[in-house]
Amino acid sequence: MGKSSDSFENAKRYIPGGVNTSLRSFGYPLTFTRAEGSKIWDADGVEYIDYHCAFGPIILGHCHPKVNKRVFETLASLDIIGAGTTEQEAKLAEKICYNIPSAEKVLFCNSGAEATYSALRLARAVTDRNEIIKFQGCYHGWHDSLLMNVISGASKIGKKDPLSAGMLQDAIDKTHVATFNNLEEVEKIIRERKGKIAAIILEPIPHNIGCVLPKREFLQGLRELTEREGIVLIFDEVITGFRHSLGGYQKICGVTPDITTLGKAIANGYPLAAICGREDFMNRFNTAGGDVFFAGTFNAHPLSTTAGIATVEELESGEVHERIFELGNVMRKGMQEICDQLGITAYAAGFGSVFVTYFMSPPVENYTDLLKNDGDTFVKYRRKMVEKGVFVLPMNLKRNHIAASHTKQDIQRTLECARESLTELVNANKVKVGPAVK
Ligand SMILES: Cc1ncc(COP(=O)(O)O)c(C=O)c1O
Repeated sequence: MGKSSDSFENAKRYIPGGVNTSLRSFGYPLTFTRAEGSKIWDADGVEYIDYHCAFGPIILGHCHPKVNKRVFETLASLDIIGAGTTEQEAKLAEKICYNIPSAEKVLFCNSGAEATYSALRLARAVTDRNEIIKFQGCYHGWHDSLLMNVISGASKIGKKDPLSAGMLQDAIDKTHVATFNNLEEVEKIIRERKGKIAAIILEPIPHNIGCVLPKREFLQGLRELTEREGIVLIFDEVITGFRHSLGGYQKICGVTPDITTLGKAIANGYPLAAICGREDFMNRFNTAGGDVFFAGTFNAHPLSTTAGIATVEELESGEVHERIFELGNVMRKGMQEICDQLGITAYAAGFGSVFVTYFMSPPVENYTDLLKNDGDTFVKYRRKMVEKGVFVLPMNLKRNHIAASHTKQDIQRTLECARESLTELVNANKVKVGPAVK
């Protein structure tokens, strides 16, 4: 027992499970007290190189001095008024509309789940339809219409797999789940539910199961299909937005959705999310004659929007993306080499600054392919990494993030720890060895 676990036990007396988000509980009773750059420290002073990055918001690095300086400046003169607007929200909205191809207008809220909730409500309003298509493996937040079929057991594939008790059955019934990268399956659902589908929502790269890359023709096909059928296409870029490019993944793939949801890396760790898209759709919110309700006491909080402006300004030169993409490549290449040398069947996947090592052979085109991943090894390996001071969340299929504050030395140290951890697992016969993955 140390301070870290004592504090965690204390938290459990007042907070269910001691955590304020289900997935923050991962088997270790850790209390964190400090974060700076690429590192985090627990209450016993143990240092970790952090690749969890709070599930993705940290893109520049923890407690980034330039972001914090700007936030402190705003804090000295403005907290929250709750009427009219602020210069900060207008400035950040302008930057988002400039950068994100689909963004003609934007609204701010506090979490990705609020953004996807509003996106669905808007889609229902503009289409006068009620049903939704989502994809197995994608996560879009905690609300009833979308909290289903993320990391499902094999027996649940092809069936509804709600993630919580207490969800409205009607919401579950009105959401259809399709296989990622499978356009025919989407077409079939649309044929069967002719005139009933309001929206198709997807993570353009399903990072909630690591990294499954979309086929270009799949995204293009969804765009054509939705245009033809009068369905709203929603890209949930809560993870990919800002992390992969200032314009989101839509800028990279060249497919422009009707509506985009943003969050996480937008403000380098301050609570901020957004919904943006076509002006004619977005004007259904708030404007005179607009009929779709959008509200939140803390929406567009000046501290968060200031952090958003400072973060976007840091990303504008392109140097941050160049750096984190390069470090991502070094990490993936290094991981693959280590696994190949040790004879472990593994696939170092990822995109840009996101990396994940699956214990299986490629290809990975959808969630069903990932059922081949050896989840037991995945978690055991990550536990060893955490014990060696590299914080990669020890949960099956979870991705890792590189921030601009990570150094080449951090990456080298991480690869050394990976080699040690995997060697220990091989020596203890805890990992399947097989032919090298080509
Ligand atoms: C793609 C995606 N959309 C939406 C959400 C929900 O965001 P939040 O946790 O900020 O509500 C998440 C959270 O992980 C996410 O990964």
